[in-house]
Amino acid sequence: VLVVVADARVLALHAMDLAARLRSRDLSVHVVEVPEGEAAKTREAKAALEDRLLDLGAGADSTLLAVGGGAVGDLVGFTAATWHRGIPVVQVPTTLLAMADAALGGKTAVNLPGAKNLLGSFHEPWGVFADVSVLATLAESDFVGGFAEVVKSAAVADVAFFRWLERSGQGLVARESDLLEHAVARALRIKARIVRRDLRDGGRRAVLNFGHTVGHALEAASGYTIRHGPAVSIGMSVEALVAQGETGFPEHHAQRLAALLLRLGLPVRPPDLPPDAALIAAARHDKKNREGRIHCALPLALGRMPRGHRPTLAVDETRLLDALARGRAAS
Ligand SMILES: NC(=O)c1ccc[n+]([C@@H]2O[C@H](COP(=O)([O-])OP(=O)(O)OC[C@H]3O[C@@H](n4cnc5c(N)ncnc54)[C@H](O)[C@@H]3O)[C@@H](O)[C@H]2O)c1
Repeated sequence: VLVVVADARVLALHAMDLAARLRSRDLSVHVVEVPEGEAAKTREAKAALEDRLLDLGAGADSTLLAVGGGAVGDLVGFTAATWHRGIPVVQVPTTLLAMADAALGGKTAVNLPGAKNLLGSFHEPWGVFADVSVLATLAESDFVGGFAEVVKSAAVADVAFFRWLERSGQGLVARESDLLEHAVARALRIKARIVRRDLRDGGRRAVLNFGHTVGHALEAASGYTIRHGPAVSIGMSVEALVAQGETGFPEHHAQRLAALLLRLGLPVRPPDLPPDAALIAAARHDKKNREGRIHCALPLALGRMPRGHRPTLAVDETRLLDALARGRAAS
């Protein structure tokens, strides 16, 4: 039994069609609707999805198809990881962010009210199927967030890709499909190369978390009203300022990073709310933290992260506060 899971919008635009095409191949297909956006990534939404699976009689031989953005992918992946102690999940990402990043790598989770992704599991998808033509139906705000993870993958691993993004900004924002396909493929290759060597996130994979200590804190402290893409964009800009003092990240690289993010339609200025104290409190729950200290994945330069299996650094809270203030003053 296949269970297609999507939110109302994606069901209407794409997932119902997909379910019909699968049925036409004599597959037994059920469809389940879940909430949209971060509202999908809650313990309550997971429980409701489980109740539906039970009603449908979905057994250990069923497969879940997650059709949608990163939020639905994370909820469905986590539910598949625990249903009957683990059933297969197929990821069908329909946002740029999910195609370029979230659908691959097996990290699945739901949020707690004050802490992003705290409850989750590693569950590799059986397959990932992406078609950039579905990006045409995305609202602008749902589309541009994806560039944050694309820029991040370039910033941590591939300066040539970063230069390509600098050259291709206009066409990417205009959703030229050959450029989008290239960007997704290149970001995925970078992620696959890093994740393959560290599936369980025991060390090196943390390089992919550049911008995410501050980014996740912004999401959680704002009650998830700040979305993941913009939050990571601001997070990278702030952490690049932290990196100047901690790793010698060049100032002109921080400027290039901010300029590229702005050109792609993303914010870089830390908002005045949530207050910095709430941000720091949320950052204290970050999964990279060790021995009670906040850790960040900070680059040495564009395309270059510290070597070794412990690529994160403990950062004093005063340094973070200082970078937040500098980020506000600069823009
Ligand atoms: N598991 C991972 O490795 C990983 C990595 C990065 C991000 N994430 C997670 O991904 C989430 C963000 O994902 P997102 O940016 O895709 O946003 P999202 O999942 O919140 O979806 C955004 C909106 O886009 C709509 N939508 C999706 N596809 C559409 C389409 N083709 N046409 C029209 N509308 C469409 C949805 O209905 C939704 O309202 C965050 O929760 C983040 O933590 C996970």
